[in-house]
Amino acid sequence: MAIRPILHHPDPRLRIKAKPVVTFDTALHRLIDDMFDTMYDAPGIGLAANQIGVDLRVAVMDLADGDTRPMVLINPEITDSTDRKVMEEGCLSVPGALDKVERFNHLHLKALDRDGTPFELDAEGLLAQAIQHEIDHLDGKLYIDYLSSLKRERILKKLKKAEKMAE
Ligand code: NI
Repeated sequence: MAIRPILHHPDPRLRIKAKPVVTFDTALHRLIDDMFDTMYDAPGIGLAANQIGVDLRVAVMDLADGDTRPMVLINPEITDSTDRKVMEEGCLSVPGALDKVERFNHLHLKALDRDGTPFELDAEGLLAQAIQHEIDHLDGKLYIDYLSSLKRERILKKLKKAEKMAE
């Protein structure tokens, strides 16, 4: 188990559409374990594999709300979604920023677990939001893509400044 560095916007690797997982082996399980370690260390409630530079459709989530357990989504697919709602959102790859984004409040998901077993899930609220956010990552999208270009530029400027100070 290991904590891996999280890529920050505007790293071009965050813009790659990740590839479906076809092999469920110990290397995949090691990746998943590292993703949980990295997410909890950050700390965050979700992490997609391409945020640590791995080009695979794997996401981990833990809303830490008591009801939802740590979750692994492999090759996830939203098959139904309803009720648009504006929700506040942030991202480990866009540190220090939060903004309002419109998401679906209810969705139905199909995915595979860490052993490749299919499962389905109805999600609402924060869980539905987190699933949409992680699937966007796997498609090379960030939540800031939904904001105005002015807001996006402001966030980028702030990130560059913070990274310069950290050097
Ligand atoms: Ni994110």
